[in-house]
Amino acid sequence: MTVCVHVPLGARAYDIHIGQGLLGQAASHIAPFLQRPKVVIVTDSNVASLHLATLTASLDEAGIRHAGLTLPAGESTKSWPFLIETVDFFLNEKVERRDVVIALGGGVIGDLVGFAAAVLRRGVRFIQIPTSLLAQVDSSVGGKTGINAAEGKNLIGAFHQPSLVLADIDALNTLMPRDFLAGYGEVVKYGLLGNEAFFEWLEVNGPSLASGDTQARIEAVRISCQMKADIVVRDETEQGDRALLNLGHTFCHALEAAAGYSDRLLHGEGVAIGCAMAFETSARLGLCSQEAPSRVRAHLKAMGMKVDISDIDGDMPDSAALLALMRQDKKVVGGQLNFIMARAIGQSFLTSKVPPEVVLSVLQDAIGSGAE
Ligand code: GLY
Repeated sequence: MTVCVHVPLGARAYDIHIGQGLLGQAASHIAPFLQRPKVVIVTDSNVASLHLATLTASLDEAGIRHAGLTLPAGESTKSWPFLIETVDFFLNEKVERRDVVIALGGGVIGDLVGFAAAVLRRGVRFIQIPTSLLAQVDSSVGGKTGINAAEGKNLIGAFHQPSLVLADIDALNTLMPRDFLAGYGEVVKYGLLGNEAFFEWLEVNGPSLASGDTQARIEAVRISCQMKADIVVRDETEQGDRALLNLGHTFCHALEAAAGYSDRLLHGEGVAIGCAMAFETSARLGLCSQEAPSRVRAHLKAMGMKVDISDIDGDMPDSAALLALMRQDKKVVGGQLNFIMARAIGQSFLTSKVPPEVVLSVLQDAIGSGAE
């Protein structure tokens, strides 16, 4: 079964197809976008060995010529040197203004290739074929593209919507359980920020989703993409509502920086911990009941996920140092930290009215024995 989520952005509208076997049928989805039977594909070394042959076999069968660039796997690929390599590759392959380039991989490849497509000849179209859960539910949708700078993550980039997203659920079978669960952190985030019924559904179906239930995975990716599409359509360039997608991220970014952006803490793991802390902060401010953070924590624990700062391997800085890192966040406006807080599960909102001493106490408890 394949389902489709449409992102109605006028001239930049596109479809997200979600289902099994999409990589093997990719050519039939891609062909309508081509002015000539040729594409270029950028991927990483891990994804190339798992999925590139399936994609190229589909293109060969349809008579679509293709050239490929395989970059090293890992976050450091999202940087100037690999942006230059990618753009040079496109130019050497004589990619024209009306051609289409393909990003095959996780969030790093999607963000890098999307940005390269945005700047090449002032913008060529690109197709996202996300192979990680995190990319399928978040980074491949909505048009945020870019690379990291020495000063921080995602500081250089552009909004550039893809022309098509093909989320092949079978690709999730090749993920390590830890990577799947990290992506699941972003899935839970959607329920927490705006859809209590979805969170309830995850409480019931999360375990079978993690153990490989295809229908449950399709449904979770569909609802996540639909929620993201609805928000992006309301606020494409993050002037307002789109910031809700950053639930848990102010905490997460400080934790990622403290862990040296290493595999001590994957982004989605940081999002899950950050969501738990955002709900705990909301409860301490009297915005939501204490039941809400307890329920968030209980679900993350039931899924075997990290919940507290103490769950991160190795030493972490103290709460004051973490708060200082939070002040580096992109969402600081006029020196004021902005947070996504919640009135209940599924009811989040943006506010700058969060006293630092409350954040400090939440951080302190999450470093210690947990916020229970
Ligand atoms: N990942 C957050 C956004 O796309 O806005």
